[in-house]
Amino acid sequence: MAANQKKSRFSLKTRSLAMLLLGLAVLGLIASSPCTAAPVQDSLSTGSTRNKLLLISFDGFRWDYDRDVETPNLDKMAWDGVKALYATPAFLTITSPSHFTMLTGRYIENHGVIHNMWFNTTTQEKKQYYMTQFVDSYWDNGSLPIWITAQRQGLKAGSLHFPGTAATYQGETVMVRQVEPHFYDHSNESEWRLNIDEVIDEWFHQQDLDFVSLYFGEPDLIGHTYGPDSPERKEMVRQVDRTVGYIRDKIQDHGLTDRLNVIMTADHGMTTVLRSGQVEEIILSKIPGFSFKDIQFQLLDYGPLGMLLPKEGMLEKVYQALKGSHPHLHVYKKEDMPERLHYSKHPRLLPIILIADPGYIVNGFFPVHFNKGEHGFDNEAMDMKAFFRAVGPDFQSDLMVGPFDLVDLYPLMCHLLGIKPEIHDGHLNKSKDMLVPPTTTGGNDGDPGKNTHMEVLIGLSAVMGFLVLVFIITISYHVCKGNKA
Ligand SMILES: *[C@@H]1O[C@H](CO)[C@@H](O)[C@H](O)[C@H]1NC(C)=O
Ligand SMILES: *[C@@H]1O[C@H](CO)[C@@H](O)[C@H](O)[C@H]1NC(C)=O
Ligand SMILES: *[C@@H]1O[C@H](CO)[C@@H](O)[C@H](O)[C@H]1NC(C)=O
Ligand SMILES: *[C@@H]1O[C@H](CO)[C@@H](O)[C@H](O)[C@H]1NC(C)=O
Repeated sequence: MAANQKKSRFSLKTRSLAMLLLGLAVLGLIASSPCTAAPVQDSLSTGSTRNKLLLISFDGFRWDYDRDVETPNLDKMAWDGVKALYATPAFLTITSPSHFTMLTGRYIENHGVIHNMWFNTTTQEKKQYYMTQFVDSYWDNGSLPIWITAQRQGLKAGSLHFPGTAATYQGETVMVRQVEPHFYDHSNESEWRLNIDEVIDEWFHQQDLDFVSLYFGEPDLIGHTYGPDSPERKEMVRQVDRTVGYIRDKIQDHGLTDRLNVIMTADHGMTTVLRSGQVEEIILSKIPGFSFKDIQFQLLDYGPLGMLLPKEGMLEKVYQALKGSHPHLHVYKKEDMPERLHYSKHPRLLPIILIADPGYIVNGFFPVHFNKGEHGFDNEAMDMKAFFRAVGPDFQSDLMVGPFDLVDLYPLMCHLLGIKPEIHDGHLNKSKDMLVPPTTTGGNDGDPGKNTHMEVLIGLSAVMGFLVLVFIITISYHVCKGNKA
């Protein structure tokens, strides 16, 4: 054979030496591959080089609001970072419940902030969104928001206007906070900039906070008043976009670009309300067989969700009267709520739950709300989906990811902050594709899938090395044998 003849020209000594050198080289490859591949430090798990995190919510920013408006700053953020097609909020898709899911990673039936309104079914007392912020026992119902968890693990947290900021949790509040005054103008762009200056200049830069949640009340308000398709909503999206540019410039000015991760999302979307003339409205008082005399307590006239507490012994009568009474009204006994909505188990939920189809409102005696846009609908409705962007040192750049659930945001944030999460309902494995791939073993999130790629690589090089070694030995053996013969 040609190979044999060629090789047989070398002396046995030369061949043995070459074999030894090759063998050593292969052994060297096997031994060194994990070392050369592994970096010197793990920025996420050591904590020493942990990056800061800013969570921003623009209330009611629907997933597709950037499609009919020029949004250069949001587009740039997507190029520099990650954009998700959309984020699915937990049900009920309204402000306080959805924001508290972001902060706790729990479904609403588990964290207990089941509505924007606090109520007492005995006294009939109701508190609106703003006053409910100060009812500690309403928020502090067994789930700890991420600020408290971070603080207990030695980090510094802050929150500006984010729902839940005012409450005390197991005796603790978020360390640095600002709660808006009662009649605050949530739409004023100059106010927004003052708030951003406070968060970036004072909280992150001067006070060296690790995590801040920041809330803006738009484009929710304008979406309610004028509808999601209005020119007013589009103008507000331009204001949001300018604000995004302002935030990123501020971050740059303070040299925080490489040390601060920024996540931007929303609590829900918005859909156009269908009015009488267009459709038959849902008005409970007009439903045959239904009477308010049978009801002890009602939560109605608040968008698409209604809840009823029938008087003693009246549950079946009320349920039967309402069931099937309107083609766009879904009537459930609390325990029969669809599992996927995760809005059934909490004691605060009333025995009968009413959910209207997108566009419809559950009215009591007559329509009292004249919003052109509304939310609170089934979280499977596309109009309820929220936008999502993220940028920063731990995020990939120019990456578009598929939809994900907002319940998964909490484990992602805990991972970024290097803190141990509380019990939660999310999964890190669904959102961590957004991150720059992990660079070493030993993360602190306990997710076994974290270093799979590296392990596969190391395993492959070991196997390859071994095969090469076997090949060389076999060939050499044959060459030697051939020479002897
Ligand atoms: C509602 O009010 C009653 C009567 O004052 C009181 O006993 C009960 O604890 C209150 N419930 C809640 C949830 O505040
Ligand atoms: C949560 O609230 C419910 C009803 O308001 C109450 O029965 C329950 O004890 C609370 N749980 C915790 C842990 O605070
Ligand atoms: C907006 O906020 C700024 C700063 O607080 C204030 O000076 C200005 O008067 C406000 N504008 C309106 C229209 O309320
Ligand atoms: C994520 O992890 C959970 C359990 O940790 C598992 O049930 C689920 O199937 C995983 N999802 C994906 C997409 O890998």
